[in-house]
Amino acid sequence: MIQETVHLTQEELDSLIALLTQYTGIIPRSSHLEGIKNYIEKKLNEKCISVPEYKTKLIADKGLFSELINESTVNETYFFREEKQFLLLRDRLFPMWKATAGSMPVKIWSAACSYGEEAYSLALLAKNCGVNAIITASDINSQVLEHCKAGVFKDSSIRSVDGSSFKNLLLPYKTDGKIQFDPEIKSCITTKEINLSKIDEIQTGALLPKNQNIVFLRNVFIYFSQNLRLKILNIIAEKCLADGGLLFVSMNETAQINFSEISPLLEKVMDGSIFYFKKKSREVKANG
Ligand SMILES: C[S@@+](CC[C@H](N)C(=O)[O-])C[C@H]1O[C@@H](n2cnc3c(N)ncnc32)[C@H](O)[C@@H]1O
Repeated sequence: MIQETVHLTQEELDSLIALLTQYTGIIPRSSHLEGIKNYIEKKLNEKCISVPEYKTKLIADKGLFSELINESTVNETYFFREEKQFLLLRDRLFPMWKATAGSMPVKIWSAACSYGEEAYSLALLAKNCGVNAIITASDINSQVLEHCKAGVFKDSSIRSVDGSSFKNLLLPYKTDGKIQFDPEIKSCITTKEINLSKIDEIQTGALLPKNQNIVFLRNVFIYFSQNLRLKILNIIAEKCLADGGLLFVSMNETAQINFSEISPLLEKVMDGSIFYFKKKSREVKANG
């Protein structure tokens, strides 16, 4: 008997996307919907199941939901993306850290790290500035985290235009058209699967990065609702940043933040053309 090929109706697709958004916060852009639809139709055909059966399986089977998430995320990233933020770290913030904290490691969280270029850029830069760093690289996509752990990247991950100084940091790791990091650099980075949309439900201290001196939360807000962006920013301020800790968002995403409802713990800093948040110490906040 020949099995009929399943094609999703708009209503079925909408209900599956709603489930995805409910669990991940991701509101797929119209340009990505076709790819997600094709993936789901392929799954339904492979497994010979209906849409309601697939939904039930998604809820019961974490692996199956993970596969859908991995298909639905946009993982575009590259080394030293938004170079000005890295220049600020190199020229001002890391030297300041070294002068005040000495050999104490700076704790950095690359939230929504994708394949890990952001985390490795931070590790390389810290090393180059003589700063010890403990870096947590997290994402909701389990596949990209495996890639991050392996520490091997395509040449195409180097894309900064005017970043010749940063390119030089990468050159020692370049072999056979790939960037391969050594155990020393890799040992600065720990990967964790963290779903930012459920950040308020993470109970265990082991999973949620705490007392972070720097958080990079870049190029992920674009997929979230205004309320979710606020929730994530405010929980990071409350639970994840150390007093005086800095939170960097993408320069392209500042317009997507509702500043009027942001936690009073987060001070807005404009340093030249670079924007970031700085966590006020609770004492300062209490005094106004
Ligand atoms: C465009 S990449 C940004 C990577 C890097 N931060 C940068 O700026 O180059 C967006 C990343 O956000 C991740 N992401 C999407 N929704 C997420 C969620 N709910 N929790 C954690 N990560 C999420 C995706 O898997 C993807 O790797």
